[in-house]
Amino acid sequence: MSPGALWIITMSGICVVIQSSEVHLRNMEHFITAVTHLEDLNPGISPLALVTSLNKIADRSVNVTLDFMGSSNNDDDIHCRNDSFITEQLNTNHNLSHFLKKLIHHFITDDHEERGVVLTPDGTTVALAPLLLGLQYGLQANKDSNQPHGFYLLSLAKYLATSLLQFENATPSERFSLDGCWDSVSAPMVFTLSGMPSLATDALVHGGMDGAILGKHLSVVNCSEVNLSTLLKSYYLRTVEELDHVSDTHLRGRYRRKNFKKITNSSLLQEKVAEALHGHPQKGNLVVESLIEKGIKEFMLRYMECPAIIPRCMWGAALPRVPLSPLSPPLPFLYIHHTEIPSKPCRNLQMCSKNMRAMQHFHQKGRGWFDIGYSFVVGSDGYIYEGRGWTSVGAHTKGRNTVGYGVAFIGNYTAHLPSQYDMELLHHHLVKCGVSNGFLQKNFTILGHRQVVATTKCPGDSLYSEITTWEHYKDTDPFR
Ligand SMILES: *[C@@H]1O[C@H](CO)[C@@H](O)[C@H](O)[C@H]1NC(C)=O
Ligand SMILES: *[C@@H]1O[C@H](CO)[C@@H](O)[C@H](O)[C@H]1NC(C)=O
Ligand SMILES: *[C@@H]1O[C@H](CO)[C@@H](O)[C@H](O)[C@H]1NC(C)=O
Ligand SMILES: *[C@@H]1O[C@H](CO)[C@@H](O)[C@H](O)[C@H]1NC(C)=O
Ligand SMILES: *[C@@H]1O[C@H](CO)[C@@H](O)[C@H](O)[C@H]1NC(C)=O
Ligand SMILES: *[C@@H]1O[C@H](CO)[C@@H](O)[C@H](O)[C@H]1NC(C)=O
Ligand SMILES: *[C@@H]1O[C@H](CO)[C@@H](O)[C@H](O)[C@H]1NC(C)=O
Repeated sequence: MSPGALWIITMSGICVVIQSSEVHLRNMEHFITAVTHLEDLNPGISPLALVTSLNKIADRSVNVTLDFMGSSNNDDDIHCRNDSFITEQLNTNHNLSHFLKKLIHHFITDDHEERGVVLTPDGTTVALAPLLLGLQYGLQANKDSNQPHGFYLLSLAKYLATSLLQFENATPSERFSLDGCWDSVSAPMVFTLSGMPSLATDALVHGGMDGAILGKHLSVVNCSEVNLSTLLKSYYLRTVEELDHVSDTHLRGRYRRKNFKKITNSSLLQEKVAEALHGHPQKGNLVVESLIEKGIKEFMLRYMECPAIIPRCMWGAALPRVPLSPLSPPLPFLYIHHTEIPSKPCRNLQMCSKNMRAMQHFHQKGRGWFDIGYSFVVGSDGYIYEGRGWTSVGAHTKGRNTVGYGVAFIGNYTAHLPSQYDMELLHHHLVKCGVSNGFLQKNFTILGHRQVVATTKCPGDSLYSEITTWEHYKDTDPFR
């Protein structure tokens, strides 16, 4: 059977799409299927050879690798087959290489579409180029015993450096945290950014973090026992149910921010960004140095202090959003709710999105509000879903909507508790993010919905009794 034919069997859905419209489904599963296919075509190929070829076909600018890593990749190790073979194979298999090129090559179109990104099953979007570059650094460092300190951060640093220089006069929100949304969560094809293009989009940062985490891992394992597709599958394709049975959350995409935080800090990242500018004409310039310092501070604030929040356009707001009244943060209160209905926790993007849409529909049609009432909703899939967000007045806690944010846990927490992880998402990560970014007062107060509105049992007996043990909880409502 020819390689092309096998490709048609394993990826038949995609081939049809390629033929008809030149558009591909852009999700992580398809990318991993393509990697598995390449492995099957080349039994025993070293992960380094595979990753190097992928980087080559997708992004010629990946030359930087050589500058950083010296010439160590000239000597092919015994287990590794020369990557020129696989490059040749890709040259003759146009469909596969066309697909991979389209999927990996990163750029932003004039219409603010971001290409070279894929949707992962947990709802986050990842750029493949920084991920693959990180894997390559890790595998090269594995061969090279004197790996430079913090080498695994170089892929991310490269993108941060470019963005910082290009957007020298931008505000922090223009420089970082540029999220976006897919045209469809089940058949993702077009990813549109939600604002002005910066060069450090969320997807690039996610890919860079994953590349760092996996690259660092790969730098110390026994290289001949690594199977790239298996590693990617377990990092990206595990369900929450499966994760419940795994105590080690280190190599899981869902926990990227937490894990990335463990392997870096501001000074190390600053050092690496400066290194990524090596050879750049502006290197050494004091202005550039202070730009880097400021930029990394903003980066840490936005990504390390804040949990990932699924933007509302991702969960598919059913009706157009009416302009809402702006809030004037920082606010003094955080009100805790449970949704009661839906009563079951939601365990994945599809389910949580469905719940969000149902709540929005109920709040708009049943209650006559402009939009879903909560400021944020905590899913049971390890993510927070954006409701009215940090900057609009919510409809959650009667009489107090302008002085506080209302955050609901999906589920009925009368008789049991949300998972420890989901509770930490809120009372460690989201509140820290709110305070650091000036949305919540430093000395803010946590109250249960029932403490303000006497007629409700919300957030449920169990959850209420839990929050009474949280820092910032007060047993009396100062307004009463
Ligand atoms: C590429 O795809 C086209 C149609 O989709 C098919 O006719 C052709 O044989 C394929 N070529 C290879 C090398 O797989
Ligand atoms: C990696 O594992 C996949 C399936 O789990 C297999 O198809 C592939 O051949 C393996 N690759 C290598 C290089 O051993
Ligand atoms: C990559 O390296 C090749 C060969 O050294 C060179 O011709 C090409 O211009 C380089 N590309 C970039 C983007 O630097
Ligand atoms: C690496 O793994 C291979 C295959 O399992 C094994 O033969 C080899 O001894 C291992 N090398 C080291 C240094 O542990
Ligand atoms: C940052 O990380 C580096 C390397 O891990 C370490 O040497 C340094 O002490 C850390 N700095 C701070 C402020 O934690
Ligand atoms: C929530 O759970 C409690 C205790 O299990 C139950 O009594 C109550 O009816 C539930 N609420 C809804 C709306 O199902
Ligand atoms: C919290 O801090 C603000 C501003 O610093 C102050 O006005 C307010 O009285 C403080 N509130 C509490 C409850 O301590």
